Amino acid sequence: MSAVAKFSLMTLPYEANELEPYISAETINYHHGKHLAGYVAKTNSLIDGTPYANMTLEEIILKAEGALFNNAAQVWNHEFYFSELAPANKCQHQPKGLLLKAIEEQFGSVEKLKEKLTEASISLFGSGWVWLVSDDKYNLQIITTPNAENPLTKGLFPLLAIDVWEHAYYIDYRNSRADAIKAFWNVLDWRIIDKRFDAIHKSK
Ligand SMILES: [Fe+2]
Repeated sequence: MSAVAKFSLMTLPYEANELEPYISAETINYHHGKHLAGYVAKTNSLIDGTPYANMTLEEIILKAEGALFNNAAQVWNHEFYFSELAPANKCQHQPKGLLLKAIEEQFGSVEKLKEKLTEASISLFGSGWVWLVSDDKYNLQIITTPNAENPLTKGLFPLLAIDVWEHAYYIDYRNSRADAIKAFWNVLDWRIIDKRFDAIHKSK
């Protein structure tokens, strides 16, 4: 009997070509339609018939190791990443409210924070992710994780994710990760990052 797929591929909140010229439709179609779809399918096949089949994605990430951790975490990381992007003409291009205040207090300015996130992205060796995270005291921090690793396993609250796997940018920017990050800022919707920071306050 064929298994029922537990997790499904997220629907993007924009059309594949709407992040152009910063991220091409071809990149989105591969990144979402091939890479993320592959992680979803692999996660579903690995949990089939195991106790993991009754767990949420977050529970799987906190408990699993090896291939299941890698695939499940990549599903979570990509859903988080794709959800924070929006067409450039629809983005809120700066943080506001509580997050803006926290960034200015802890990094000096939004521009300084972006410089630090860019530096971390360029200097991360190999495949991985760069994150702006908060702890439960609202202290912000930039962290990098290799491969699929994820701040949830460290008890942190992710706010912003930058995918620095080559598959995220190689079609559009070839080997120039720096150009890819420069472009990324144009399609990052800070409205979503504000909401993620506000949600930490509301959950307490
Ligand atoms: Fe990716």
